[in-house]
Amino acid sequence: MSGTLQDFDARILLFGCGKMAGAMLHRWLAKGLPPAQVTAVRHSGAPVADNVAVHTSAAGLAVPDILCIGVKPQQFATLATQISPLVGPQTLVVSMMAGIEISSLRAALQTSAPQTSAPIVRIMPNMPVAAGLGVVVVTGAMPDTACTMLDTLLAPLGTVHALADESALDAVTALTGCGPAFFYAFADALAEAAGQLGLSAADGDALTRAMLFGAASTLQTSAKSAPELARDVASPGGMTQAGLDVLAKENALHQLIDATLRAAVRRGGELAALAGQG
Ligand SMILES: NC(=O)c1ccc[n+]([C@@H]2O[C@H](COP(=O)([O-])OP(=O)(O)OC[C@H]3O[C@@H](n4cnc5c(N)ncnc54)[C@H](OP(=O)(O)O)[C@@H]3O)[C@@H](O)[C@H]2O)c1
Repeated sequence: MSGTLQDFDARILLFGCGKMAGAMLHRWLAKGLPPAQVTAVRHSGAPVADNVAVHTSAAGLAVPDILCIGVKPQQFATLATQISPLVGPQTLVVSMMAGIEISSLRAALQTSAPQTSAPIVRIMPNMPVAAGLGVVVVTGAMPDTACTMLDTLLAPLGTVHALADESALDAVTALTGCGPAFFYAFADALAEAAGQLGLSAADGDALTRAMLFGAASTLQTSAKSAPELARDVASPGGMTQAGLDVLAKENALHQLIDATLRAAVRRGGELAALAGQG
């Protein structure tokens, strides 16, 4: 196995190649992964990329080096028996499904193929991986060779973060997996509010995008904390402070965000239960 995507020689099977796995694949191919290394299984059989083989089921497919499971958690229970023959003793199983723990994956994938030695890890990517600006959190044990292979694959996607404690992955999922959607919802609310103040929809949209990009970039590169950066914008008694006071009133923003992440985590648990866990 090699250290670059251009000469990546592991065979990757994407079982489920929708929005999330598709975004990862898009980035891998853009960074030089040979499409012949990838096979996708998706219900529709719709093409995923030039020269990537697509199948509608796993029947007859060879055991890959890396099996990436990208179906919805609630779809997994009915698909596990179809997926398990794809797991060889050396196959690195990579699940991106929210909520389903490694122990449950191992139990489900052993139902028809007891490949106890296959390493199983979970990753939590997010959609900005398509531009190499994603966050991918990885949890689970694997041999050094598998670790090197996975590092090569994940590095071009953005920030890769190892998580020692799998039980924290639900919180991670709410923050980094779901987070982009919460951020976009905030962007939409800003643009709409600016419209209520008389800005045209086009101006509100363009200015919201540009402002959030600049603020996010500053947050990424600054040594200051988020509250410190907010204080830099706000002067006592000024316009910004008047707005911040509304967000802080009765801890409104913090309570709203707390409820948002908790709802996501709660739903993760429900979906895992639907997948036969818990
Ligand atoms: N979306 C995100 O931002 C995000 C972030 C982090 C983690 N995830 C995780 O990524 C996983 C996929 O999410 P997604 O948003 O990419 O969902 P999605 O777009 O609906 O993708 C699901 C994929 O599963 C395939 N599939 C469904 N039933 C199948 C079957 N019977 N046989 C073969 N393939 C089947 C679908 O095939 P078709 O393409 O033909 O419909 C599709 O490719 C989930 O487990 C989710 O928790 C998603």
